[in-house]
Amino acid sequence: MTTTTDRIQPDQTGDVSNRVRIFDTTLRDGEQSPGCSMNLDEKLRVADALEEMGVDIIEAGFPIASNGDFDAVSAIAKRITKSTVAGLARANRKDIDRAWEALRHAARPRIHTFISTSPLHMKFKLQMEPDAVHERLIDAIAYARNLCDDVEWSPEDGTRTEHDFLCRCVESAIKAGATTINVPDTVGYTVPEEFAALISMLMNRVPNIDKAVISVHCHNDLGLAVANSLAAVRVGARQVECTVNGIGERAGNAAMEEIVMALKVRQDVLPFHTGIASEYITQTSHLVSTITGFQVQPNKAIVGANAFAHESGIHQDGMLKHAGTYEIMTPESVGLHKSTLVMGKHSGRHAFRSKLKEMGYELGENELEDAFHRFKDLADKKKDVYDEDIVALVDDQMLHANDRVRFVSLQVIAGSKGPQSAELELAVDGETKTTRATGSGPVDATFNAIKLLFPHSARLQLYQVHAVTEGTDAQAQVTVRLEEDGKTVNGQGADTDTLVASARAYIHALNKLLVKREKSALSAMSA
Ligand code: KIV
Ligand code: ZN
Repeated sequence: MTTTTDRIQPDQTGDVSNRVRIFDTTLRDGEQSPGCSMNLDEKLRVADALEEMGVDIIEAGFPIASNGDFDAVSAIAKRITKSTVAGLARANRKDIDRAWEALRHAARPRIHTFISTSPLHMKFKLQMEPDAVHERLIDAIAYARNLCDDVEWSPEDGTRTEHDFLCRCVESAIKAGATTINVPDTVGYTVPEEFAALISMLMNRVPNIDKAVISVHCHNDLGLAVANSLAAVRVGARQVECTVNGIGERAGNAAMEEIVMALKVRQDVLPFHTGIASEYITQTSHLVSTITGFQVQPNKAIVGANAFAHESGIHQDGMLKHAGTYEIMTPESVGLHKSTLVMGKHSGRHAFRSKLKEMGYELGENELEDAFHRFKDLADKKKDVYDEDIVALVDDQMLHANDRVRFVSLQVIAGSKGPQSAELELAVDGETKTTRATGSGPVDATFNAIKLLFPHSARLQLYQVHAVTEGTDAQAQVTVRLEEDGKTVNGQGADTDTLVASARAYIHALNKLLVKREKSALSAMSA
C-alpha cells in the first residue's frame, strides 16, 4: 500500500516501506480482560499518553458492547487528533452503525470489523457455513466502507483457518474495501516460523494483497506473541497490534514496549522502524499498571523493576568498566531515569509548580494549592521526596477529585495483642460520619469501618500494596478491586501510611461503583 498518513513519515531515504505501524489495543483487548476495566477519565488519560508517545492507531473500545464503551470511544474520538482512532464491530450492520456513531467525529476514524473464519469457530461459535461467513464479511466491509475510508478486517482465529478459505476471504475483503487486513492469532497457538509462512502465503497467493496493509495481532498463550509478531514483520506485515505491558485476554497480547525496543535495538537484523518515542515507555507502562492494578512482574522485559538492575558483583564490575558489557539498551532510551531527589520541605510553591510542569502536569489554581499542601505534608513525614513521590501524590489527588465518599481521617490500633480496631471518619456527600470497627488485622478493621459507614455488598477481589520508592518511609500505593453484580472496579490510594492508602483505595473503588450504579439506573430508566 503506498498511501501515507500524517504519522507515517518517510525515513531519511524517503522510504516508507519499512515503517511498522503500531496499533495499540490496550483500551479494547487489554481493557476487556478480567479486572482491567477503566473508567472514562482513566481511558482518556491512557489515550493521551498513547497519542503523545506516537501510537499510530488507538483502538479505543467496542462501542456496541456497552454504553460505557460507546461513551469512551466517542470521547477519545473527539479528543485525539494525531493518532487514528479505531472502534471494533462484529460483521453486522448494527455493530458497524454503533461503531461509526462513536467514531464519526474523529480526525482519523477507523472501523475495525471481524468475523471468525476457522472451522472450529464457524461450526461451534457462529454456527454458520463458510459461504455464509464469506458473504457476511463482504457485506459488512462494503457497508463500513460507505461510512468510513479506513476499514480494517480481521479473520478471527486466523491462524487456525484453512489456507484456501483464508485467501478467498482476504481477497474478497480487500475487494469490498478493507484497507488493512489483520491476521489474529486469537488463541496464541502459532509459532514464529509457521506464522511467518502464513503471512508469506497470503502475500504470494492473494492477488490484490498490495492494496492493503497487513497487520498481525498475537496473543501470548505460549509466550510467543512478540516473537510471532516480529517474524511476521520480517516477511511483510507492516502493522502490529499490541498492548502496553502486554495486558489482554488470558495470557495477554504482544507487549508494545517489547516490539518497539526489539525493532529499535536490533536494527541489524530487523531493519524496520516505528513512530514511537521510546522515552515515553516507562511513564506509559506505569500509568497503565497504576490504573488497572496489574503490577508488572519484576523481571518483565523493558518495563520490569529489575529490567535494568545489575545485582551480581561480576555484572556490576563489568558495568562500571563499560555499560555495554551487560546492557543492550540504556535505561534512558525507555524513559527510565535514576530516582532524583526533587524537593525538600523548604521548597516553595513556585518551584513545586515548575516541577509539576516539567513532569507534564498542568493543574488549575485550586488543584495546585491542594497538591502543594499534600506535598508539604509528605515532606514533613518523609526524608527524601523523589519524582515518583510527586507522581503518586498528584495521581492520587486527580483520581479522587470527583469522589462522593471522601476519606477524612483514620486511627488504627494494630499489633499482636488484638483485637485490631479502626476509628474512621468519612465525608459522604459532604456530611461527616464517624465509626469504629474491629477486624482480624488492621486492614480488615479499616475495611469493616468503611462498610459500617457506607453499607454495600461489593466483594473484595484484590488487595495489593506496592512501595513507590525505596526505604521504610516510602509511600505505599494500594490497589483495591471490588466486584458488584458482575461489574469490577479498581481503586487506588497512596500515602506514607499503608492503612491510610488502603482506606483511600477502597473508598476510591467504592466511588467508582457508585458511578456505575448511577449509570445503570439512568440507562434502565431511559430503556
Ligand atoms: O484476538 C482476536 O482475534 C481479536 C480480534 C477481534 C482482532 O481480538
Ligand atoms: Zn485479541
